[in-house]
Amino acid sequence: MTSQDPSWVVLRFRGTPDADPAAWATFSEIARVRARGGEQPIVVHDGPQRAEDALSFVKTVEVAIGEVRAKVEAGLDRGGSDEAAARIAVALGVSLLEVWTGLPGMFTADPHVVPTARRLNRLSYNEAQEIVTTGDQALHPQCIPIVRDSGIAIRIRSLGEPTAAGTAISSRSGAGGPGLKAISMKKGVVLISMETVGMWQVVGFLARAFQCFQAHGLSVDLVATSETNVTVSLDARANTLDRTTLDGLVRDLSELAVVRVIEPCASVSLVGRGIRGLLPRLSPAFEVFDEERAHMVTQAANDLNLTFVVDEDQAPRLVKRLHHLFFSAGGGGADVGPTWDELRAGGPVPVRGSARVPDAFWVDRREELMALLDGRDAAYVYDLETIRSRARALRAIDSLDQVLYAMKANSHADVIRAAVTEGLGLECVSEGEIDHARASVGGDVPILFTPNFAPRSEYRDAFELGVHVTVDGLHPLRAWPEVFRGRPIFVRVDAGDGRGHHEKVRTVGPGAKFGVPLDDLPEVRAITDGIGATVVGLHVHSGSGILEPKHWERNAVALLAAADSFANVRYVDLGGGLGVPDRPGRPHLDLSMLGEGLASVRHTIGERQLWLEPGRFVVAEAGVLIARVTQVKRKGERHFVGIATGMNSLIRPMLYGAHHDIVNLTRLDAPPTRLTTVVGPICETGDRLGVDRLLPPTEEGDVILIDQAGAYGRVMASSYNMRPPAEELVI
Ligand code: LLP
Repeated sequence: MTSQDPSWVVLRFRGTPDADPAAWATFSEIARVRARGGEQPIVVHDGPQRAEDALSFVKTVEVAIGEVRAKVEAGLDRGGSDEAAARIAVALGVSLLEVWTGLPGMFTADPHVVPTARRLNRLSYNEAQEIVTTGDQALHPQCIPIVRDSGIAIRIRSLGEPTAAGTAISSRSGAGGPGLKAISMKKGVVLISMETVGMWQVVGFLARAFQCFQAHGLSVDLVATSETNVTVSLDARANTLDRTTLDGLVRDLSELAVVRVIEPCASVSLVGRGIRGLLPRLSPAFEVFDEERAHMVTQAANDLNLTFVVDEDQAPRLVKRLHHLFFSAGGGGADVGPTWDELRAGGPVPVRGSARVPDAFWVDRREELMALLDGRDAAYVYDLETIRSRARALRAIDSLDQVLYAMKANSHADVIRAAVTEGLGLECVSEGEIDHARASVGGDVPILFTPNFAPRSEYRDAFELGVHVTVDGLHPLRAWPEVFRGRPIFVRVDAGDGRGHHEKVRTVGPGAKFGVPLDDLPEVRAITDGIGATVVGLHVHSGSGILEPKHWERNAVALLAAADSFANVRYVDLGGGLGVPDRPGRPHLDLSMLGEGLASVRHTIGERQLWLEPGRFVVAEAGVLIARVTQVKRKGERHFVGIATGMNSLIRPMLYGAHHDIVNLTRLDAPPTRLTTVVGPICETGDRLGVDRLLPPTEEGDVILIDQAGAYGRVMASSYNMRPPAEELVI
């Protein structure tokens, strides 16, 4: 074998036969295929798990490389590390080290977290190094410098898909690739915060602090300093972070500073070239931090990464948001390959609007929708079957006793009827909604009235109308005791887990106007006891657009604790807020996990009932807004497409920066090649329904469809500029 002989390749297999027998079978197969194809495999494997396997590895290796047997065995003894494979590759002077893993390459994010993550076709050594150091497990970080110095390329390939090209790592990445390559995540991070006023301008403080880390054998990853605080992160992959070690460290550091250990954390990193240049585009990502604390932000001196350290359970959400922000527009040139979803599906995955999407009702009914717009400029169109199917899915959650449709999301009479026909009750927030509900579905449907800062008359009337009434503050009880005397009531508490797609729709916490704080419950008890009112229900609603299935279980735990303050609580209403992913390819809320979470609290609730009151989940995907193109315009680089209605029909993009997918229904099959901003006719710059969307070249008269407009669409519309909002049609 000559140095850099292309007919030899070191194959490094990861994944053990014990863990994945299928992969093991493939491993032998690949070795054979490789051999037949003329390239001689030199095999290094994680191992040995069992004695006979160990023997067969060693034999394989002996046959393959003869004279360097001792080195290989050393590798196997150490668990067959990537580093050993790299050293063998160098020793043998091959041109390529292939690392065969469970994934078909490296991705723009962990595909298990972001299914739309794209495969990275090519990376430079530096980029790959940064990605694996910040989280990706495709390679051990140590192995890259070893092969780089010998100019040996690396290819990451998949045991499951032997023919897939994978990711090539070499001295140069493809030309014109994106600066940003990946959003990586590393869990198991521990932060050590050292707070002291004594270190300002004191020589040697850091040296003494770092000596403590050294004394405990701990290697520091990230460092952030201010005048009074130094915070460092410890990476579980590089350290033994057991209690004894950490306690010892804290003890020693406490002689220098006030020490706080923050865990479990995770680091989330933007990785690529010229990360500093991305800062102006980052602002939407920071919105995530309204809700979640970033404990630390660091920028790598080499400009290859920007890292946030957050609570571990929040990290996947942040990864999704950042990935969407930077990679959703597609593109990326030859450096970026297909998405994980596409690779699994064995071909392009339908993108809503560009091809077939099974879950969007309108895709197969395009002709019908186009016909509906004959003689009209704009319309909301609702599909009742989608509503029914969402209602059925909710009713199928065993651990729930009652599901109320929050009709504020869409109060069209047919929509309410469809929900009620499937067994949902109704949640109303005004007397107007109660009247409308009764007019639409009659008097037998259970209604919970949950007003906020409503006038006295509405509570009085609601009792007369025979609905459950919720009190949302002390004022009504203190000021109008006669209204509640002898009545059963629900009390809405502020005890939730504040979440939601935007700060404006999070309804718990000191800045939110909703709910009775837990501290006021004794007073609620005293007043209700005094006037003979009975608290029969407790209620919490913490926000809208929540995709985390454990949220409602946490609400249940909080309410059940509050229920101890009252003797007769029979109903525990966990609120609504069930989210719907706003882009195709994103995971839906996992209702079975939601149900499992609630099932786990059921045994603690006795005879009490668990209620839920979703709005968006029932109707969002059942409605679209369609409108005709009025004019098109080019201004510099920007293409504007104007449609007949705008923020007067759908204010969500303007109000919350909400994303609604937009397609040109007239040209559904044309390639979406032009970045287009879709605007309405209202006299405000913010009257944009979507900014920089990929649409086909569009003309006057085309029909534009705005997706997922069934919830909080027409109900929030106005006649601003004396332009009436789009009318509603039902199919
Ligand atoms: N229960 C109560 C007491 C509520 O205030 C709400 C919504 C719900 C249930 C239903 O929440 P849902 O499941 O639909 O998230 N206009 C905003 C949403 C505001 C939600 C107001 N309250 C939007 O367009 O995103």
